[in-house]
Amino acid sequence: MLCAILQLSGLTATAFAHNHSHPQCKATPGSPSWPSSYEWSKLNISLSGRLIQPPPPGAVCHPNQPTYNAALCPAVASNWNTSAWQTENPVGTICNNFNNDTCLPYPNVTCSGQGYPVYVINATCAEDVKKGVDFARTHNVRLIVKGTGHDYVGRSVAPNSLSIWTHHISGLSFQDGFTPKGCNFSIDGPAVTAAAGTQMLEIDYQAHLRNLIVVGGGAGTVGVGGFLTGGGHSAFSSTYGMAADQVLEMEIVTPAGEILTTNECQNIDLFWAMRGGGGSTFGVLTSVTFKAYPSMPIIAATGFVLTASGSDAFWDVAAKVLSQYPSLDAQGIMTYSFVVHNFSGEFGITQPIDGVVGSFIMPVLHPENTSVSLTAALYKTFSQATAWNPQFLYGATPTVYPDFWAWYSINNGPLDAGYDQYLGSRLLDEQALTGNLTALAEAYKTATPSGGMTSAYLVGGHGVMNAKPRGGSNAVNSAWRKAYVHAVLGVQWKPFDELGKTEQTDLLDNVYTEALRKLAPDMGAYVNEAYKYEPNFQETFWGTNYPRLLEIKRKIDPEDVFWCQPCVGNERWQEVDDMLCKV
Ligand SMILES: Cc1cc2nc3c(=O)[nH]c(=O)nc-3n(C[C@H](O)[C@H](O)[C@H](O)COP(=O)(O)OP(=O)(O)OC[C@H]3O[C@@H](n4cnc5c(N)ncnc54)[C@H](O)[C@@H]3O)c2cc1C
Ligand SMILES: *[C@@H]1O[C@H](CO)[C@@H](O)[C@H](O)[C@H]1NC(C)=O
Ligand SMILES: *[C@@H]1O[C@H](CO)[C@@H](O)[C@H](O)[C@H]1NC(C)=O
Ligand SMILES: *[C@@H]1O[C@H](CO)[C@@H](O)[C@H](O)[C@H]1NC(C)=O
Ligand SMILES: *[C@@H]1O[C@H](CO)[C@@H](O)[C@H](O)[C@H]1NC(C)=O
Ligand SMILES: *[C@@H]1O[C@H](CO)[C@@H](O)[C@H](O)[C@H]1NC(C)=O
Ligand SMILES: *[C@@H]1O[C@H](CO)[C@@H](O)[C@H](O)[C@H]1NC(C)=O
Ligand SMILES: *[C@@H]1O[C@H](CO)[C@@H](O)[C@H](O)[C@H]1NC(C)=O
Ligand SMILES: *[C@@H]1O[C@H](CO)[C@@H](O)[C@H](O)[C@H]1NC(C)=O
Ligand SMILES: *[C@@H]1O[C@H](CO)[C@@H](O)[C@H](O)[C@H]1NC(C)=O
Ligand SMILES: *[C@@H]1O[C@H](CO)[C@@H](O)[C@H](O)[C@H]1NC(C)=O
Repeated sequence: MLCAILQLSGLTATAFAHNHSHPQCKATPGSPSWPSSYEWSKLNISLSGRLIQPPPPGAVCHPNQPTYNAALCPAVASNWNTSAWQTENPVGTICNNFNNDTCLPYPNVTCSGQGYPVYVINATCAEDVKKGVDFARTHNVRLIVKGTGHDYVGRSVAPNSLSIWTHHISGLSFQDGFTPKGCNFSIDGPAVTAAAGTQMLEIDYQAHLRNLIVVGGGAGTVGVGGFLTGGGHSAFSSTYGMAADQVLEMEIVTPAGEILTTNECQNIDLFWAMRGGGGSTFGVLTSVTFKAYPSMPIIAATGFVLTASGSDAFWDVAAKVLSQYPSLDAQGIMTYSFVVHNFSGEFGITQPIDGVVGSFIMPVLHPENTSVSLTAALYKTFSQATAWNPQFLYGATPTVYPDFWAWYSINNGPLDAGYDQYLGSRLLDEQALTGNLTALAEAYKTATPSGGMTSAYLVGGHGVMNAKPRGGSNAVNSAWRKAYVHAVLGVQWKPFDELGKTEQTDLLDNVYTEALRKLAPDMGAYVNEAYKYEPNFQETFWGTNYPRLLEIKRKIDPEDVFWCQPCVGNERWQEVDDMLCKV
């Protein structure tokens, strides 16, 4: 008996070992290599009960689901479209398409857990994260990381996976001067240390209380994890560089389960890669320290050039406005502006118009930067673009804010969620903006269909070009270092509308984004706000940094514990329906 048992378990172990050492796919529930419930409960015990198995978030609306609760359904349905609710839910995401519309809170559609992770670690510290990474690695379980679920390329949700949810890893502190661990010098100036669960709005607010600003993003609910690892553009990036350029130190859990401090004095390869190389690729960020700056007043003008819809002259005027963005940058002005076509319903626009509209923002860094000088700079830009054509209306209404928070607390967003969407984008350099205005006009015209908008965010510029990241450089896309404008557009479709999805995705990729790619063929795009299936994504998202990033990925994660799309080194696996399998 003893012998038989040994033989039997020996056989089983050999067979398992074989499947473990040469697995073709990551384990899925029901497959022989999926960990037993005993193993999951051992993990749970090691985590003091922090392993959860959340029901699909819309389940309360579906009578076939064990957690059906008709009384709770209306609240879930009405909160579904807010980024805050999706952040607080362990598996919620801003875009429904990344969970394959599998459990929307509407009783008229089907619900299953198919598009969602099976288990979630509600992590509160680096040790919790380590246990999850070790478990996924040893058991060949697909591993993902969710901070807020804001990702526009869908990296924070996946079927048949274990998710490490970083939202409850909390902690935020400020200090003056910072000595990176293991360095024999200190870095002058204010610095912020934020745990992985921190959202930008909390940092912006706490900075404001201390008369500081940080290089934060446009939406307050974005989290530090995806934002900083992807690069992070900001109202202050054209002044001070990308968010990733501000980083002084990161604490990381590696694919091997090591908890490491990375900075310019230790683990320098990882420190380099984690600043721009992308989320959930090289490890899990548990804490980050980055620079802050003294606060200053902000002058923000609502600026516009517009005309009644349908004017052929519009596209040339739009190109002329955009061609002056490098000059606005030189004067210390950034913009969150949009080219809109036959558009109404936002920005207070009630009649369909063609226009360049948005916020033009100037941090007051010099005594001569006043609302008069901002208005004059904008009027010069707009009147030069429209001088020859009187049908265009233009204007700029400046407001002085005592600090960034005063503007941001009422303007951060969008904070909506609960739709099916893909983005497309391109970074535009000086050549694309000034080299050939006919080509610029044509590109925006093609990229912006009737009713649509394409951003012309001036978030690159001199600050990003001249940034001095610690350690000499970081992994932020080399195209950012030449970029002025981040041009982003999106398409949406209704859930379950496969035809609409196919049509819209085809337009997004082959028409709209393609027009921008042609305009700036030597540039690239920003990984956090881009088309998930961007062709040649390695070069597009990382430019000349890709070879070094790939080398670091292979070294730090030889078994591909972390995998995502579009991510560094993901070439060896592909998604086959809801499985992740070797190519
Ligand atoms: C409304 C809105 C406005 C935005 N505005 C800006 C902007 O102004 N500037 C800008 O640069 N971007 C902006 N973005 C894009 C934003 O940078 C990305 O959505 C980013 O991925 C969000 O990071 P997250 O951690 O909040 O999201 P998540 O979806 O949780 O994570 C995004 C990615 O990072 C990974 N990740 C998250 N946390 C960690 C961690 N601790 N360690 C390792 N990997 C992690 C995830 O696995 C995923 O791959 C905006 C997005 C939205 C939805
Ligand atoms: C190993 O994998 C193969 C193919 O997926 C499967 O048929 C077999 O049952 C697995 N064996 C064990 C012991 O898990
Ligand atoms: C983990 O343990 C906690 C506390 O014992 C329990 O509430 C929870 O349901 C367990 N998780 C799973 C997935 O079983
Ligand atoms: C949420 O947004 C979707 C897509 O825009 C829309 O179809 C749905 O009606 C919205 N739901 C609520 C409750 O507003
Ligand atoms: C289901 O109901 C929602 C909300 O009422 C609605 O927006 C949607 O169009 C409906 N979907 C289908 C497939 O009928
Ligand atoms: C996650 O952990 C936090 C902190 O302990 C707790 O407040 C929260 O309720 C937990 N969430 C879930 C869904 O378990
Ligand atoms: C700091 O360390 C560097 C490199 O190890 C060394 O060259 C330098 O002399 C040290 N400086 C001081 C002030 O100790
Ligand atoms: C802001 O001040 C700088 C430094 O004097 C100057 O170069 C720039 O043109 C000013 N910009 C505006 C819009 O006032
Ligand atoms: C400018 O772009 C247009 C449209 O793409 C093209 O036809 C023209 O040849 C270009 N001009 C120059 C000088 O390159
Ligand atoms: C402009 O949009 C309206 C809907 O808002 C549509 O009816 C009209 O056809 C559009 N015009 C053009 C020229 O695309
Ligand atoms: C998404 O759902 C559809 C059915 O609605 C299914 O055919 C498809 O395989 C699913 N995709 C994934 C990635 O699971």
